[in-house]
Amino acid sequence: MGRTGPAPSAWSFLFFFAFSFCCRWFHRGLAGAAIPARYDGFVYPVGAPVGEDSILVEAFFDPICPDSRDAWPPLKRITLEYAPRIFLEVHPFPLPYHDNSFFSCRALHISNKLNRSTTYPLLELFFEHQEKLYNQPTRNISRESVIRRMVKLATKATGDSSQSALERGFEDLETDLAARTSFKYGCSRGVIGTPFFIVNGFPLPGAGSALDYDQWRSIIDPLVSNSSSEDEGTTTL
Ligand SMILES: *[C@@H]1O[C@H](CO)[C@@H](O)[C@H](O)[C@H]1NC(C)=O
Ligand SMILES: *[C@@H]1O[C@H](CO)[C@@H](O)[C@H](O)[C@H]1NC(C)=O
Ligand SMILES: *[C@@H]1O[C@H](CO)[C@@H](O)[C@H](O)[C@H]1NC(C)=O
Repeated sequence: MGRTGPAPSAWSFLFFFAFSFCCRWFHRGLAGAAIPARYDGFVYPVGAPVGEDSILVEAFFDPICPDSRDAWPPLKRITLEYAPRIFLEVHPFPLPYHDNSFFSCRALHISNKLNRSTTYPLLELFFEHQEKLYNQPTRNISRESVIRRMVKLATKATGDSSQSALERGFEDLETDLAARTSFKYGCSRGVIGTPFFIVNGFPLPGAGSALDYDQWRSIIDPLVSNSSSEDEGTTTL
């Protein structure tokens, strides 16, 4: 360790071993996660192509989080206004202190598997009715009842005929793993609260609070420069 002072005490040995163990554990934690077959998240609008000059916006939302709910309309508006320059990918991220969030994230993956056009309508339904799924109002009810409530909500997006398919989705290990992958991806990017935004790979400050439309404009506008400015060599990347 390059120390030239007195022999390191037992404490520093202990510290060193604890530290190297933690590093190894942490490294294995990230590197050991199974690589998913496709990139996590849901593209908005559904099927939008990614271009060479797309500004990649990644949003981490918890469907049961009020700040995520408030963050969605301005982000949706700016994405549609700047289409196709903004390529938006929303990652579900279940906060552990919201009891029903993991199931809600799983429901999004289930609906996406059934018909990917229903995922955003379902996310909006979650935002609209999330008070019914907060911790306090669901304190006394079983997880089956919570899932039943979610299935009922989801049929509004996927159609009444899909009720049994949604129920089966909650039995399907694949959708459980997909929701876990979403969580792990968020962890790997350092998500500590929702909403959380990453623009062109760089996290925005202010995790956990919604950005309004004007704040988004002030972030996106400077990035949307015309190619002429690059010709003049004025870009400062
Ligand atoms: C998927 O959902 C969309 C929107 O609800 C609907 O228009 C479309 O017909 C559905 N596709 C299939 C294959 O069910
Ligand atoms: C939950 O259960 C407790 C104890 O049985 C009861 O006092 C309380 O009113 C219940 N709350 C709800 C929201 O049902
Ligand atoms: C960029 O180019 C478009 C048309 O190609 C033009 O309408 C717009 O004003 C230009 N923006 C800037 C900042 O020069």
